[in-house]
Amino acid sequence: MTTYLITGVAGFIGSNLAETLLKQGENVIGIDEFNDYYDPNLKRNNVISLLKYPQFQLIEADLLTLDWHKLLQEVSVVFHQAAQAGVRASWGKGFRQYTEKNINATQIILEAAKDTPTLQSLVAASSSSVYGNAETFPTAETVCPQPVSPYGITKLAAERLCSLYYHNFGVPVTSLRYFTVYGPRQRPDMAFHKFFKAALQDQPIDIYGDGQQTRDFTFVSDVVAANLAAATIPEAAGEVFNIGGGSRVVLTDVLDTMESIIGRPLRRSHVENAKGDARHTSADVTKAQRILGYQPQVSLAEGLTKEWQWIQSINN
Ligand SMILES: NC(=O)c1ccc[n+]([C@@H]2O[C@H](COP(=O)([O-])OP(=O)(O)OC[C@H]3O[C@@H](n4cnc5c(N)ncnc54)[C@H](O)[C@@H]3O)[C@@H](O)[C@H]2O)c1
Repeated sequence: MTTYLITGVAGFIGSNLAETLLKQGENVIGIDEFNDYYDPNLKRNNVISLLKYPQFQLIEADLLTLDWHKLLQEVSVVFHQAAQAGVRASWGKGFRQYTEKNINATQIILEAAKDTPTLQSLVAASSSSVYGNAETFPTAETVCPQPVSPYGITKLAAERLCSLYYHNFGVPVTSLRYFTVYGPRQRPDMAFHKFFKAALQDQPIDIYGDGQQTRDFTFVSDVVAANLAAATIPEAAGEVFNIGGGSRVVLTDVLDTMESIIGRPLRRSHVENAKGDARHTSADVTKAQRILGYQPQVSLAEGLTKEWQWIQSINN
């Protein structure tokens, strides 16, 4: 039986991916250091349901301290989700965390992977933030990346390392550029989580800039499906794919949809634009459709409803 290894298993995307695999009866080894970038209790909560499965093994450790040669002997597929996420905290003193967790941690996994011929697939989480303020929308993978945040720089560096290890050593690695992921377990520093939580507590929400920025929002189960496809389709090796939600939405329109789900108005407050945020993102998913058979399944209204239900469940 295939054994899967997921880094960042206690995080938003890693825990959703693990849950899907465990429900399918697969063996999963999950690694997480439960760091305090956001409340580690939320991460503990994310793994509670995973720990109920006997075929789940949790390793609580920093990726940089592990014996990867040994670990990779035990697994066929790695989903590398762990990273220091978030754009705004990547300026200033925080940057060291980003280089360590996004670049160095990826490099040690790749080094071990190059010596592990039994490894079938390594799927690495990249980000739409590698594009920065792209000049064409929807943006295809062929557009030259130009990150506008230090975070985006580290994600691009990690992605480029993956390409190097594919071209030089044949490591079967695929990078997925996720476009703003949302859904149950979304990180508390992300907009939808903050907005829903504020609504629950009848607090005002902060909107960066004029609210006319657009995003391609991707529901987490679509991201999970893209990971599973990338791990099983041999043509995905060595490739980079955009993984988006299928449409570009103006932030103020999202707020209107949220209001109709919540059933009351949000108290909107406008604050200055955050440095490092791209103005617009929009994924051209043609390549993912063609090679991975990727097709986003969850509409924004449906996905937001699921996230709202989850936010209410963890705050009562
Ligand atoms: N959420 C999004 O919208 C989004 C968008 C684009 C890309 N991504 C990428 O997707 C991946 C997952 O993001 P997420 O939103 O689930 O983030 P998250 O912060 O919820 O999860 C990451 C997890 O990795 C763990 N971790 C980090 N460094 C580690 C280390 N050195 N050793 C062990 N554990 C470590 C953290 O404790 C955390 O639980 C990241 O690579 C991120 O850059 C996310």
